[in-house]
Amino acid sequence: MGKQKVLVIGAGGQLGSELTQGLWNLFGKENVTATDIKAPQGILAKGNFEILDVLKQTHLSEFIAKNKFTQIYHLAAVLSATGEKNPKLAWHLNMDGLINVLDAAVEYKVNKVYWPSSIAAFGPTTPKIKTPQDTVMDPTTIYGISKQAGERWCEWYFKNKGLDVRSLRYPGLIGYKTKPGGGTTDYAVDIYFKALTDKKFECFLKPDTYLPMMYMDDAVKATLDLMEAPSEKINERGSYNVSGMSFCPSEIAASIKKHIPEFEISYNPDFRQAIADSWPKSINDSSARLDWGWEPEYDLAEMTAHILKHLPELLKAEAI
Ligand SMILES: NC(=O)c1ccc[n+]([C@@H]2O[C@H](COP(=O)([O-])OP(=O)(O)OC[C@H]3O[C@@H](n4cnc5c(N)ncnc54)[C@H](O)[C@@H]3O)[C@@H](O)[C@H]2O)c1
Repeated sequence: MGKQKVLVIGAGGQLGSELTQGLWNLFGKENVTATDIKAPQGILAKGNFEILDVLKQTHLSEFIAKNKFTQIYHLAAVLSATGEKNPKLAWHLNMDGLINVLDAAVEYKVNKVYWPSSIAAFGPTTPKIKTPQDTVMDPTTIYGISKQAGERWCEWYFKNKGLDVRSLRYPGLIGYKTKPGGGTTDYAVDIYFKALTDKKFECFLKPDTYLPMMYMDDAVKATLDLMEAPSEKINERGSYNVSGMSFCPSEIAASIKKHIPEFEISYNPDFRQAIADSWPKSINDSSARLDWGWEPEYDLAEMTAHILKHLPELLKAEAI
């Protein structure tokens, strides 16, 4: 593999800010360009950063041509809960943004493209326990519909244009370094912040709502493992199921109480309950394990211990 030049689109978000750091470690900071429509916050400002709107097709193409990128990570999207409030914007960004990237990647001979799908691509009649790789997909949110369609676009570009595009169906991603961007699993991020600052948290899902989740360190690892795997190992060109852990609000609360005994959780379900109820409770990721050796490192107890150890340092630094 020669020298890589990597473009990250939508790098300022919850995933992008941490994935960009993973890419710095792998390829060297000078070989990674992070981009977003908003100015860089925190650590991202310490590397190459440019303002780039994935919907401005001409600018996007020129930028890719000029910089001779070998890999693109396209992360810009409107997430599930926000998308239900603005469905046309979600469709426009999630579909046209993806197609702009795929077209430019073909035209300028980019070696590899990464684009995330989501468990939101599944729906109410999908088997909910250990959801298989290939199964019924009847998403109910515009976000989920855009992810399902995006998977098919990726496969189409692979088959018809020879583009090496790869994808993961992330479960809910949990990190503490960046606030989440409007998804249905955001409660599992907010709960740690509130546990430390207020010792109490009101949850927008019911106590027994199981959802598949993944710690951010595992999400970054899964993404880089997939992208570093030899092309012939990638049998799934739509998107791979990947699983980390599965828990419900009362279980994450119990795991926090082990560290903060006075922590209290209360429940006030809103429109996001119906979205959560339409999604899988756990995921079968045997194809990812078999094809390119996927294995998660964090379970709920390890994640809670890790976050509650490191988040206070971050909150203290922000308060200064
Ligand atoms: N966070 C999760 O739990 C989760 C789960 C499954 C899949 N995903 C997928 O992972 C990807 C990243 O998610 P995230 O949680 O980091 O989202 P996020 O909302 O935190 O970040 C998205 C970023 O895209 C940027 N953006 C918006 N419009 C843009 C445009 N026109 N051009 C360029 N950038 C633009 C935003 O400013 C933001 O920084 C998305 O495709 C999302 O669907 C996330």
